[in-house]
Formats: sequence, C-alpha cells, structure tokens
Amino acid sequence: MKNILVIGAAGQIGSELVPYLRKIYGDNHVIATFNRTPLPAEISEAGPTAQMNATDGNSMYQVIKKYNIDAIYNLVAVLSAKGEANPPLSWKINMETTFNCLENMKEVKGAVFTPSSIGAFGLTTPQDQTPQDTIMRPSTIYGISKVAGELLADYYHLKYGVDARGVRFPGIISNVTMPGGGTTDYAVEIYYEAIKNQKYTSNLKAGTFLDMMYMPDALAAAVQIMEADPAKLIHRNCFNVTAMSFDPEIIAAAIRKHIPEFVLDYNVDPVKQAIAESWPNSMDDSCARAEWGWKPEYNLETMTIDMLEKVAAKLK
Ligand code: SER
Repeated sequence: MKNILVIGAAGQIGSELVPYLRKIYGDNHVIATFNRTPLPAEISEAGPTAQMNATDGNSMYQVIKKYNIDAIYNLVAVLSAKGEANPPLSWKINMETTFNCLENMKEVKGAVFTPSSIGAFGLTTPQDQTPQDTIMRPSTIYGISKVAGELLADYYHLKYGVDARGVRFPGIISNVTMPGGGTTDYAVEIYYEAIKNQKYTSNLKAGTFLDMMYMPDALAAAVQIMEADPAKLIHRNCFNVTAMSFDPEIIAAAIRKHIPEFVLDYNVDPVKQAIAESWPNSMDDSCARAEWGWKPEYNLETMTIDMLEKVAAKLK
C-alpha cells in the first residue's frame, strides 16, 4: 500500500486510524476524507485531506486519481440502532459507499478494507463461540448491509482481482471520538459516566453478553489483515475478531475495582435490546489467529485501567 484513502476519517475508528496509518506509511501517504463532520485539527494539519461524498462514485474517483490511491479504508457506516430509525438512509450510505470503493479500485486492482461486524449475524446464528463460517441471517438493516458488503467484496476479489479484505468487528471501545448510534455504544458511555457521575443507566439488560475490543487492538487488526500474506488467507471477507465478551454487570464490576462507589442501573431500550439479543454472545476468531496471526493485547481489566485514565484526563 503506497497511497491510502481513509473514508470516514472524522468517525470513531477513522479519527484514530488516520494518525496510526500515518505513523506507519508517512503523513503524506494517508489522505483523510470527510463529508459533513469536519476533521479534528490533529488530522487536518498533519497531512492531506479531501472533502468528499462517498456515495458519489465520481467524486471519489477524482480524489483517487488526484492522490494516486491504491488502498482504501472504508469506514463510513450508519450503525445498527441509528439504521433502524432510518433504514433507507442506512442502506444507501452503507451500500453505495462500499460499492463505490470496490468499483473504483477495479482499474488499479487496489486494496479495499471494509469492516463488517458482529451485526452480520442474526437470531439463527449459533450464539456461543460463533464460528467463522455459519448461518448469517441478520434482522437489522445495518447487518443486512454488512452481509451484502462482505459478499460484494469477495465478488470483486474473485471477478476483478480487487484486494478486498476485512474483519467482523465487535463493539469498539475508545476514548477519542464517540461512536454514533450503535448497540454497543453503552460500553463506551459507561466509562465517561463513571468518571463524571459515578453512575450509569444501561439501555441493555444484565446478562446481555456481546463481543468487544479496545481501539488499539482494532487499529492493529485493520492493518494486520491488509498486510497479511495473501497466500495464507483462506478467508477474506470477513474474519471474526474479538478480544473479550462481557455483559453490563461484568464491565460495571471492572470499573468498581477502581471507582468503588460506581452504581449501575437499568432503563432498557427495546430496540437496542432486541438487536443485542440477535448478535453472538462470543465469537470464535480462530481463523483470524491461524491465517494471519491475530492476537489482541487488551482484556477487560487492562482496557478499563487505560480507559479510566484517558477519559479522566480528557474530562479534566
Ligand atoms: N458497534 C456496532 C453497533 O453497535 C456493531 O458493529 O452497531
């Protein structure tokens, strides 16, 4: 990868992936794009940026030509809960963006990373240690767009030689940019509220287990899959990856080790609860471990220590 386009650079993952990629590939080789949300100064001042509507294939093509792009990280998506509030918008943004990336990289046989998600699974999927290859009948528009995106990426690889690869991310926990409109967002908000008010009201029930990962591991996964030796890849789109699985009670207990007065209560959101119940409790990511050496660094305890420290410093 020589010149990398990051689409959605103002978002939760993009805002941390851009500096991470720039450290590896050089500031001028990573072009950060945004549309309506402006980029943070650390990104716009450190390297090239472009304003671009990723649902417009032509304007994406102009940026690709201008910067001689040969790899795209496509991070634009309307997440699960927000998608249920506006399914046509979710379908349009999620699908058109993915399609435009793949279609535009056909000519140069470039690389495309589009994350899939635990949201690609559904109620008929085995929920514990969910296998890499299994039943995928999601019940959210977000999940349907993720499954379609996985298939489309494999199609462009087989038919046109686009180097399309991806991972199925679990809930991503981070402290730079808030996630927007996901079912797993509670696991980010809980740290902010623990620091600010020593109290959090969960919109998911006790006992709702979901896979999660700390941002440093998510960034490493995104780069490692794209740098992996293609000869060793049996799968491409997309690999199960996880770092931990917990429910609201377990994350609250981890926080209480550092903030003993922390209180968790509940006000269940039926839309988010139904989505969470249709997703795995825990994924089996042994294919990612075997095919490209995936191994997360952070567990719940080490992530909690780092999150509390970083969020406290940020809120000061
Ligand atoms: N974090 C996403 C969501 O909750 C899952 O990929 O929608």
